[in-house]
Amino acid sequence: MHQDTIGTVMITQEEINAKAAEIGQQIEKDFAGEEVVLIGILRGAVLWMGDIMKNVNLDMVIDFMAVSSYGASTKSSGVVKINKDLDTNISGKNVIIVEDIVDSGTTLNYLKAYLQNHDAKCVKICTLLDKPEGRRVDIDVDYIGFTVDDRFIVGYGLDFDQKYRNLPYITYLEQE
Ligand code: PRP
Ligand code: MN
Ligand code: MG
Repeated sequence: MHQDTIGTVMITQEEINAKAAEIGQQIEKDFAGEEVVLIGILRGAVLWMGDIMKNVNLDMVIDFMAVSSYGASTKSSGVVKINKDLDTNISGKNVIIVEDIVDSGTTLNYLKAYLQNHDAKCVKICTLLDKPEGRRVDIDVDYIGFTVDDRFIVGYGLDFDQKYRNLPYITYLEQE
């Protein structure tokens, strides 16, 4: 029987907590006195969304979108599908997309345009992880937790075939 193998811990929960506090302060500064709409992208952003929202002391509304690009493969298909749309009117609002990882950039490139087309005042991106070597579409990322190298990352919301999202740290899948 095939067994997936998980690598060593790359980023601990403590490091992620500290980074969320740092980025939270930056967001408070950047949007001082204003209201923000945080949009978490299901399912990968589930833990990081919680970390960011509790570290940002501003008037805030949260919402979620669900999109998928990978399916059950470790390679991006380049296709973005909306599985759950926004429930919030973001017209004239400061929107911050909260993501777990920017890899090819396909998902965020699509989402940023989508939210701008819904007349957001501004659309910023806050990602836990950035994998620059994966990039196929140029995209400006405003808040980045950690930069990772070109491995298949799992844990802390990130899955392989829907597994490992519950790991309380960032690690990677060993691939033959
Ligand atoms: C993953 C990840 C990002 C996106 C990044 O989501 O959570 O949303 O892919 O890849 P990209 O930069 O190449 O577009 P996925 O589609 O696997 O859905 P999930 O969040 O439910 O795991
Ligand atoms: Mn995702
Ligand atoms: Mg996934």
